[in-house]
Amino acid sequence: MNFGIIGFGNIAHKFIQSITSTDEGRVTAIASRSVPENDPYLAAHPQVKLYRDYETLLQDPQVEAVYIALTHKYHKEWILRAMDYHIPVLCEKPLVLSSKDADIIRTKGKDTGTYCLEALKTKFNDGFQHLKKDLPLIGQIRHLKTSFCSDASGMPPSCFLFDPEQGGALNDIGSYALGFILGLCEDPITNVKSTLKVREGIEEYFSADLVFSGGYTAFAEGAIDRRTDRTALIQGTKGKIEVPLFNRISSYTITLQDGSVIRRENPILGDDMTMEIQAAIQDIKSGKTESSVHSLEDTKNILILSEKIREAAQTAVSSSISCN
Ligand SMILES: NC(=O)c1ccc[n+]([C@@H]2O[C@H](COP(=O)([O-])OP(=O)(O)OC[C@H]3O[C@@H](n4cnc5c(N)ncnc54)[C@H](OP(=O)(O)O)[C@@H]3O)[C@@H](O)[C@H]2O)c1
Repeated sequence: MNFGIIGFGNIAHKFIQSITSTDEGRVTAIASRSVPENDPYLAAHPQVKLYRDYETLLQDPQVEAVYIALTHKYHKEWILRAMDYHIPVLCEKPLVLSSKDADIIRTKGKDTGTYCLEALKTKFNDGFQHLKKDLPLIGQIRHLKTSFCSDASGMPPSCFLFDPEQGGALNDIGSYALGFILGLCEDPITNVKSTLKVREGIEEYFSADLVFSGGYTAFAEGAIDRRTDRTALIQGTKGKIEVPLFNRISSYTITLQDGSVIRRENPILGDDMTMEIQAAIQDIKSGKTESSVHSLEDTKNILILSEKIREAAQTAVSSSISCN
């Protein structure tokens, strides 16, 4: 399947490697306004066409699917434009910046019969699916915790993470920290308490305490201003599971109350993005408009939760101000 790439920055330079381990994905065109002519990949792959505007790539009859690797705030416009051309889309996370926009994408996908998948790799790797099967070993879930904190202070001020329109931790990391929890917990969330550290309009840190109707709880945090171990912990009535690098699971450890320890290893095929690309190819070939592993409803639910976290943090600040 011939992929065109829209936006050739950091993650797109990873995608060109990841796709080489898929069965039949290949890159045939790249649209980039900024990539230099002497980019090493382009120099080594003269058969890959370079366009300087995105629309021309969408008009290339050879392109069978697009991978959108622009920064967040440009996703919506180019997903919708690709759908105008009935070109299936794999778009980087977060797919869009609001639940309302997720609805717009979904409706357009249905109206045009065009596939769209948010490139949220976690659930596509075998490790996540094996983890789900192992959950009953620890009994009933009592509590989950995810932590995904990076320190972006070394990034240049022009980096999109510091753009008030699209930057911050919740937009960038929320999909991983919240998506992992929502991927494992199907019960409705009945209560959200949260904190947000906002500096110059940028959400540098968020934390959220969630209560699920099933009687268990979760805590998620993410940051662009500090570093922590990127781990998840799932506690159950009969033990716990520790998952390092939970957004791309290659191993985890189950510790049961009787003291036994089970170590699971799930080597990733290709790299952490390969399986999501492979899944998109299979879906597109079978004529689907959405993934059954990570649907547009799943994308929307993460965005709804992000919105609730913002709302709950705002309410907490307002009530503390009115109490003082
Ligand atoms: N799945 C993952 O593991 C993962 C990891 C990192 C990032 N991401 C996601 O991938 C997306 C891109 O991240 P990135 O780190 O690759 O971003 P990036 O390198 O900073 O930018 C990607 C592309 O966006 C366009 N762009 C950037 N700044 C722009 C500006 N000021 N005005 C107009 N266009 C601009 C450029 O397109 P041109 O090439 O046309 O100039 C650039 O090549 C984000 O949504 C991010 O969340 C995902």
